[in-house]
Amino acid sequence: MKIIDNIKELKEEIKNLKGSIGLVPTMGALHEGHRSLIKKAAQQNDNVVVSVFVNPIQFGVNEDLDKYPRQLDKDCALCQKEGVKIVFAPKISEMYSENKDNLTLICPPYDIVNKLCGKARPGHFDGVCSVVAKLFNLTKASRAYFGQKDAQQLFIVKKMVLDLNFDVEIVSCPIIRDFDNLAVSSRNQYLTEKDRKLALNISKSLFNMKKLFKEGIKDTRILIDASLKIMEGLDVEYIEFVDKNTFDFQKEVNNNTLVLIAARVPESSTRLIDNMFLWEAE
Ligand code: PAJ
Repeated sequence: MKIIDNIKELKEEIKNLKGSIGLVPTMGALHEGHRSLIKKAAQQNDNVVVSVFVNPIQFGVNEDLDKYPRQLDKDCALCQKEGVKIVFAPKISEMYSENKDNLTLICPPYDIVNKLCGKARPGHFDGVCSVVAKLFNLTKASRAYFGQKDAQQLFIVKKMVLDLNFDVEIVSCPIIRDFDNLAVSSRNQYLTEKDRKLALNISKSLFNMKKLFKEGIKDTRILIDASLKIMEGLDVEYIEFVDKNTFDFQKEVNNNTLVLIAARVPESSTRLIDNMFLWEAE
């Protein structure tokens, strides 16, 4: 396995690879969610490239860019174990020019970014799409792996690939949950014990909504009320229902409904997201 921190060397190594390339873009602090993406990429491709880059342009000014966990040695050990060929962990200066206002960015349509996570994080998805597009160009991957955990990101990246005719297949991977059903996340490291207990109520309310839907409840107001009760003590940013194919909001849920939650836990002020298809077995 090669660990590469600059673009010149990456390009050379990519040229030398034989067969298909599967790319797993990450910001590091790798966990079981990332591992599941890497495993799928290894099953479907001759070579797996994992990028580890805490992308500054997708963080807002008051967000956790500085304290975001960085543990490259540990990440590389996980990648090595999973048979990854290249870990690409560039410095910021390799990816962006000094002047952040002088970058060409990819900006997904306003309607899609100005809702859900994008509403609280202006510019976030421009930053995500721009770095992902660079990684597609640099790695020449034929497939790239994204988690359903970040459902809006997955939807937006798929749309970018369609709209801009990128020659890469986006493979979506299911949400990996911990033993207690908390969706695994690099940010779970921030949680105190008390926070984690409260955070469990996010997935609890998702599973509860699935149960209520199964019992025939379709009114989103009833589902929201039940969820808010379960999530008491959390600072809920949104509970929203969208059509999984369009990401348009829904008032009544149906077999295409994806329900998404973002909430902060009070003690560490950690922002967590989770989501669920209401009709699917999980
Ligand atoms: P990061 O948060 O490191 O996530 C990398 C990939 O892992 C994403 O596609 C995310 O959806 C997936 N992932 C995270 N937790 C998961 C879980 N519990 N189950 C399944 N998949 C999970 O998302 C990013 O980085 C960045 O925005 C990035 C795409 C790398 C661009 O900078």
